[in-house]
Amino acid sequence: MGCDWYKDRVFYQIWPRSFKDGSGDGVGDLYGVLEKLDYLKSLGIGGIWFSPLYPSPNADFGYDVSDYCDISPEYGGIDVFRKVLKRAHELDIKVILDLVIAHTSDEHEWFKKSRDKDSPFRDFYFWRRGKAGGKAPNNWSSFFSKGAWSFDPASGEHYLHLHHSKQVDLNMDNPRVREEIKKVMRFWLDMGVDGFREDVITYISKPEDLPDDLFFRAVKGLRFYDCGPKVHEYLQEFRTDVLDHYDCFTVGEAPMISPKKALSFVSGPHPDLDMVFGFKHMEADCFLKEYLPLPFSLRKLKRAFGSWQKALNGRAWNALYLENHDHPRVVSRYGSKRYRKESAKALAACYMLQQGTPFVFQGQELGMGNMPLDDISKYEDCLTKSAYEKGIRFLPKKLVLKIIQRASRDNARTPVQWTGGRNAGFSEAEPWFFVNPDHAKFNAEDEDKDPDSVLNFYRALIRLRTSSDIARDGDYKDLAPLHPRLYMYERRLGERALLVICSFSDRPLKFRLPKEFRGRAAKLVLGNYGGEEPEMTSALRPREVRVYELG
Ligand code: NOJ
Repeated sequence: MGCDWYKDRVFYQIWPRSFKDGSGDGVGDLYGVLEKLDYLKSLGIGGIWFSPLYPSPNADFGYDVSDYCDISPEYGGIDVFRKVLKRAHELDIKVILDLVIAHTSDEHEWFKKSRDKDSPFRDFYFWRRGKAGGKAPNNWSSFFSKGAWSFDPASGEHYLHLHHSKQVDLNMDNPRVREEIKKVMRFWLDMGVDGFREDVITYISKPEDLPDDLFFRAVKGLRFYDCGPKVHEYLQEFRTDVLDHYDCFTVGEAPMISPKKALSFVSGPHPDLDMVFGFKHMEADCFLKEYLPLPFSLRKLKRAFGSWQKALNGRAWNALYLENHDHPRVVSRYGSKRYRKESAKALAACYMLQQGTPFVFQGQELGMGNMPLDDISKYEDCLTKSAYEKGIRFLPKKLVLKIIQRASRDNARTPVQWTGGRNAGFSEAEPWFFVNPDHAKFNAEDEDKDPDSVLNFYRALIRLRTSSDIARDGDYKDLAPLHPRLYMYERRLGERALLVICSFSDRPLKFRLPKEFRGRAAKLVLGNYGGEEPEMTSALRPREVRVYELG
């Protein structure tokens, strides 16, 4: 069928455990979401992406699914989900679910049955004999544990898990697995869900003989299962057999993908997916991942953004984001401590006015920041714990904790700050995770009333993004790609343009307006400093962003 309503909407990601507790047990849930739908509408968003809501033992907080066709009782169960869906649709908010099909939980019925060597479910997963000396079948490493294989004494074989040992990789080469996945998709689409965010979707096809990783490829993050041999074939099958029959869209998570490779998924007459989430722009302060920290480089950030904008222009559509549940808070990474509010707003304008569909992660619109914890035992995330274990094999514990504090995904998973009061208004009960003490300053209740708040800036920005055809369709051009502290780009549509001028400096910043803009009639349509409108060419104040429309 194909649709393009997603090009006109801004999406909001809910990581349900920390969004809002409505049942009073300290854990976020769908009752809480129901309460907050009007708030989301007031923000101007047109879609919600729910991180997994399915029943799960929570080894990776929902990304280990034990039943694809139900909603976890922790979150209120399926009837409450139907209510959320209905109310969201009444408000013209689309709803997409996380489709986690690269792996299931080891507590999923399929896996439990597959433990029996003679079961027809055995081939739903990768069971292999080990190498001599009790060694794993190949040398693949896992993102969340020591190796990618675990031994099952009962059947005498190892099973593959690229992530946690409780997240077992599905064997997509088995046509029965693909049929089951299609049933799952239809189940939710028939209920009225508007599409899917597809978890690590580029990892679903493994090469037949599961060859050993080559050291130098692996160091660069190049793995044999990344964009494996049949990934396009399987995604095409899902599209043709299921997705084409619904008014829905898909965005795939594609770790480490280059824009060129991304095009093979999202361009052409019958693309595999509508958009993909790339990762390159999340590496502006690290090497490959946050656990290998480097100083922030604006040039690197601009290069990453620019390469995607250029490659996809006219051929495909971008998914724009700066935060999600897998990364620390962006204001604590690319922003300024001293000018937190200004930098939170400036960062928002920088990414959201590019070509593509913007995604906002819960709390990002409030300027929420990282929360370092003083002991490793306080962290909840499985990746954080495994990174710590790996780190202390080579480095002093204190140093590893410091790296964790900066890099942990738990930074993004603290409860959303609804008020400046008890538990940040997240729950009546003791919250399941620590509340960031800065909720006294950054919270939805106070920010709602303050015209100068981060929240109200997001509202204005989303209004601009969803009402401007230039913001939607204009061509992107970086006007100062090499400048270390200035991000200046235009979006051009015919004779008209939007000009985004943004400072990444904590000091005043002089800049040269390119000739073609000098003396032209320009209207300031958004800025993060109140007061009198400055001259277009005047120096930027610390972390200032100005957005002009030129006729
Ligand atoms: C990507 C998800 O975003 C992340 O949270 C999860 O841990 C892995 N995939 C494994 O499912």
